[in-house]
Amino acid sequence: MMKSISGPFLPGPFVLDPSGRRVRLHDAAGFARLRAAGRVAAACLDHLAPAVRPGISTGDLDGLVADFLGAQGALAATLGYRGFPKSCCISVNDEVNHGIPSPARRLADGDIVNVDVTAIVEGWYGDTSRMYLVGAVAPAARRLVDATWEATMAGVMAVRPGGHLGDIGHAVETVARRCGYSTVRDYVGHGIGQVFHDAPQVLHWGNPGTGMRLLPGMVFTVEPMLNIGGPAVRTLPDRWTNVTVDGSLSAQFEHMVGVTDTGVEIFTLSPAGHERPPYPGGPPGSG
Ligand code: MF3
Ligand code: CO
Ligand code: CO
Repeated sequence: MMKSISGPFLPGPFVLDPSGRRVRLHDAAGFARLRAAGRVAAACLDHLAPAVRPGISTGDLDGLVADFLGAQGALAATLGYRGFPKSCCISVNDEVNHGIPSPARRLADGDIVNVDVTAIVEGWYGDTSRMYLVGAVAPAARRLVDATWEATMAGVMAVRPGGHLGDIGHAVETVARRCGYSTVRDYVGHGIGQVFHDAPQVLHWGNPGTGMRLLPGMVFTVEPMLNIGGPAVRTLPDRWTNVTVDGSLSAQFEHMVGVTDTGVEIFTLSPAGHERPPYPGGPPGSG
């Protein structure tokens, strides 16, 4: 198989990560494109909020994603990506990430659900995910969702020029530990731009002041997965869906961010202000 055909040959400045991979430094025009792609992905998650209710299938939600992205002139990056068959990933309860939407998987009262959408707009990628609460969710599950949002935003807010990648992971894991949750280590954030998964790797754990130095123009995701139980995950026979080994609940949020001259730009903030659940207009009992 040919690997990342376009990636290595894109023009423009870059620095090398510790393993010698190119980390691109995007200019203002690239930031504008990424802003547009991130906005479409985030608006798509907004669009789903009223639909995530008991009884709807994850396949139905995938249809809403496909239609929304199509109407925006965007492509779904996951569709056909390494053989992934759907327009988004939907991961329920003990599913950690990469769940495959299915008409057979109906959401039930009390479920916690991650939807991860990646839009391609004129060749540029926008990648984001959020949690949704289905009906009345138990307090322990809501605490996990809240902590995962706090951990994600702590990671995002640790991004600054002159800082280090390790600052991000440290900020994420400090929140996770304080709340008593484990941080998944098998999946990490990633550089992104005109390539879906690019260098650098963004670990959701680490030590401050370690790892790559953050430079203006770098663009990557922060997408921690926190588990109530242990950090171990395994892949289901469908070859995609990852679940916790101990069956405990898992939650994830994802933002795509850029390092600016003065701090961080979040490309995937919710245009509707629906950053974290419960979302207004959700089903009774979700608030
Ligand atoms: N959007 C996911 C991420 O955050 C990647 C999904 S790849 C797929 O990196 F193949 F599982 F869809
Ligand atoms: Co991602
Ligand atoms: Co994603």
